[in-house]
Amino acid sequence: MNTPTPNRIDKLNQLTTPLLEWYSSAARDLPWRTPASETHRPDPYHVWVSEIMLQQTRVEAVKGYYARFLTAFPNIKSLANAPQDELMKLWEGLGYYNRARNLKAAAVQIMEEFDGEIPSDYSKLLSLRGIGEYTAGAIASIAFGIPESAVDGNALRIFSRILAEDGEINKTSVKKKITQEVKRVLPEERPGDFNQALMDLGSSICIPNGEPFCENCPWESICKAHKYGQETDFPVKAKKKQRKIEKKAVFLIEVSDKIILHKRPEKGLLSGLWELPNLDGELSAKELSEQMKKWEIGDYMIEPLGEGKHIFSHVEWQMRGYRIQMRDISEKLLEKEEWIAVSREDLEEKYAIPSAFECYRKQIYRG
Ligand code: ADE
Repeated sequence: MNTPTPNRIDKLNQLTTPLLEWYSSAARDLPWRTPASETHRPDPYHVWVSEIMLQQTRVEAVKGYYARFLTAFPNIKSLANAPQDELMKLWEGLGYYNRARNLKAAAVQIMEEFDGEIPSDYSKLLSLRGIGEYTAGAIASIAFGIPESAVDGNALRIFSRILAEDGEINKTSVKKKITQEVKRVLPEERPGDFNQALMDLGSSICIPNGEPFCENCPWESICKAHKYGQETDFPVKAKKKQRKIEKKAVFLIEVSDKIILHKRPEKGLLSGLWELPNLDGELSAKELSEQMKKWEIGDYMIEPLGEGKHIFSHVEWQMRGYRIQMRDISEKLLEKEEWIAVSREDLEEKYAIPSAFECYRKQIYRG
């Protein structure tokens, strides 16, 4: 006789039926979900764009970007032909800009390799730039009704609680184990609803920070963490590594009605984006004046703009800002193509400045 593995949930219907019933009445009405019924699935392009935007970004923050993006690029062909600066401008403030670059690269791939149609096949979806297992599973299940799982942070948290999984959640082996369990209970019918039900359950009931609302949960009676009153002990997390602190001197360099922008290198953090010129470290008055000489900024006035900080996932920038008002434009500075002088109108309309510089937004846009 088989001995049951302790953590497995054995009666599938105990899981899928109540979850799908709950979802039928509680699903969020989100723009990328329409039309949502078994016969009319949402447009694969809409599902793809939304899934990419929703990576590391909250639903409420995505809604406006999603609408503007689809107005600018209503279909795959228009996205494949998107001018880079326009694409970046539409993404301005969402962060993780590689997502946008990959979207365009994948649109080109779809035009060239799949006749302009998003493939309705999990492995082919996986072959597209920027699409990993989660996103391929989400598109396959939501847009095409293919029974593939889409295991994100919500699914991991929910399953770690119902199974009382005591392995550390970021370990590959633990993720694998939970993913297997999700796959095992994923229904053949309504796989997209099942996956999205987990997302909604995770955002409204089995929430990440603080006490979950178990009394409203369709899985209250089968959840092991709930049974023992240990909901907040799961998922088990390793201690977070301390973020690296980087000090920066940031320059708003103005000349008549223009400001100077610098293009970041094509590799690394915020790659290829326009930024306010900046230098590593805290600069003394002497170092500042030496730097102005290096940039051949002749006569100038300097004014402090105060301090600001920005937190990335692994690094924290602690910035000290300076306004530099140049009398004449520095030819030396603008010799290279990664340095440009732009008017404030052009800046507002065409150039995406990363949110890391948000603390100087007022001064950047209004002078
Ligand atoms: N997060 C990621 N994908 C989502 C979706 N389709 N609905 C709601 N939240 C999500």
